[in-house]
Amino acid sequence: RGSRKTRQWRPEFHFTPERNWMNDPNGLVFHDGEYHLFFQHNPESTEHANLSWGHAVSTDLHSWEELQVALLPDDLGEIYSGSAVVDHDNTSGFFDQEPGLVAIYTSAGETQQQSIAYSTDRGRTWTKYEGNPVIPNPGIADFRDPKVIRHGEKWVLMLAAGDRIVFYDSPDLVHWNRISEFGVDHGSHGGVWECPDLFELPVDGDPGRKRWVLVVSINPGGPAGGSATQYFVGGFDGTTFTPDGPPEQVLWAEQGADFYAPQSWSDVPDRRIWIGWMSNWDYAKQVPTDPWRGAMTVPRTLSLATTPAGVRLVQRPVEELDGRRGEPQRWSGEVSDQQPAPEFSGAALDIVVEFRIGSSTSFGVDVFVGDGQRTRVGYDVAARQLFVDRTLSGKTVVSPAFPARHAAELLPDGDVVRMRLLVDRSSVEVFGGRGETVLTDLVLPDPGEVVRPFAEGGKVEVTSLELYPM
Ligand code: FRU
Repeated sequence: RGSRKTRQWRPEFHFTPERNWMNDPNGLVFHDGEYHLFFQHNPESTEHANLSWGHAVSTDLHSWEELQVALLPDDLGEIYSGSAVVDHDNTSGFFDQEPGLVAIYTSAGETQQQSIAYSTDRGRTWTKYEGNPVIPNPGIADFRDPKVIRHGEKWVLMLAAGDRIVFYDSPDLVHWNRISEFGVDHGSHGGVWECPDLFELPVDGDPGRKRWVLVVSINPGGPAGGSATQYFVGGFDGTTFTPDGPPEQVLWAEQGADFYAPQSWSDVPDRRIWIGWMSNWDYAKQVPTDPWRGAMTVPRTLSLATTPAGVRLVQRPVEELDGRRGEPQRWSGEVSDQQPAPEFSGAALDIVVEFRIGSSTSFGVDVFVGDGQRTRVGYDVAARQLFVDRTLSGKTVVSPAFPARHAAELLPDGDVVRMRLLVDRSSVEVFGGRGETVLTDLVLPDPGEVVRPFAEGGKVEVTSLELYPM
C-alpha cells in the first residue's frame, strides 16, 4: 500500500482509506452480497475539509476494497454524515426493474439540510435528487446526520438537532413529516448530539422480548473526554421513542476514548452489526498518520443482555474475523510480580485471554512493548474495572487528553475474568467478559512487537492465553 511515512501505524485488519482524511462511517447498507462502507472523507488531503462520501465494499467485513468517491460537495454544500437504504418496493420511484440504493445525507453549506441521492449500479455511481434538499433547515444551526429505517409500511428518519433527536416519517423517502422529538430531559447534554441510530434487538436472545436501542453520539462530554456514544433502551411505536430508564440515566456504549459516530448496517439478515470511527474530536485533526488520517473499529455484532444493573448493550467482534486468524501462540501458567513473564510477539493480533483472580491487585496484558513503552490492558480487582492505559504507549498527540488511562466496570464471572484484545499497530479494542464492557483506544507506539502478561501486587493464574496473528 502507498503508506510511506508512518507505515508502522497502518492497521492490518481495520479499514483506513488509502490516502487522506476520514471520519464517520456513513451509508452502511448490505446489498447484493456486499457490505457498503461509505465514510466522511476529504479526497484532497488529511484535513477535515471538502467533506465527501468515500466508499469501500467488503463481502467478509474485514478485507475492504476502496472504490471511487461516491458523493462530492455541490451547490448545497459539503456532504456530511447520513445513511443508506435499499428501496425494495421502489417507493421513491427512482428505479425500474431492480431495487436500488437511496442515500440520505446532510448538505452542509450556509445551513445544514437533508438531501438524497440514488444509485442503480450497486453504489458505484450516484444521482443526486433534483429537488434537494428534502428537509430544509428549520432555523437550527446543528441539524444533521439523518438515519433512515423501515418501520412497517413507512420510512422513519431521525436526525440530530442541537442536543435533541427529531423524528420524521415518509411514504417515499422524498416527502418527510416531522412526527416527534426526543431528548429534552434525557441523557447526557455535555455537548452537541450527532449521528443517531435506532434498531430493535431481542433481550437475552428471546425473540418474544424485544427492546429498541436509540444511539446518540455526543461531542464533547464523553466519559474519557471529548467524543463518545450514549444509548437509550426503550420502546418505539413508529412515532415516539420512550426510554425505559429514568431521565437522568446515561449509558455509554463504551468508555474508551476512540469510538465515535457508530452506525449500524441496514438490510443485514438475522443480526445487527455496527462500526465506529476510531478517533475523538479532541485530537482527530492532530493524529500524525500519513498519508491517511482516520480508521474504523472492527464491525461488531450487537445484542441486549440483562445485567445486575439492567438491560445493557453487548458488543462482540463479528464472527467473520475468526476466519482471518492465523496459527495461534498458546500459553497457560502463573504470572507474578516476582518473576519475568513469558513474552510473545505481534502487532496485529486477536488475543483471547482468561485469568483466575489470585493475590494480585491488577493483572492483564501489555502490548506494543519495547523501548520503555507499553500499552497496558488490565483488570483492577478492587475497583472491578477493565482498563486501558496509554500513558506510556509512545507518541502523544498534541492534546492533554491523549496520554490517559480509561476504565469501565466489568464484573468477574465468579473468580474468572475474560478479555479479548484486538491489537492493530495503532489501536487496541478490548472486549471484557461477554462484550458487556468495551474500551477502544488509539495509540502511537514506536515499533514494539512484544506482548507480555503482567501481574501487580501478587500472582494471577492465566488459565488460557491465545494469540492469533491477523
Ligand atoms: C460527527 C460529525 C457529524 C457530521 C460530520 C462532519 O463526527 O461531526 O455530526 O455530519 O462529523 O464530518
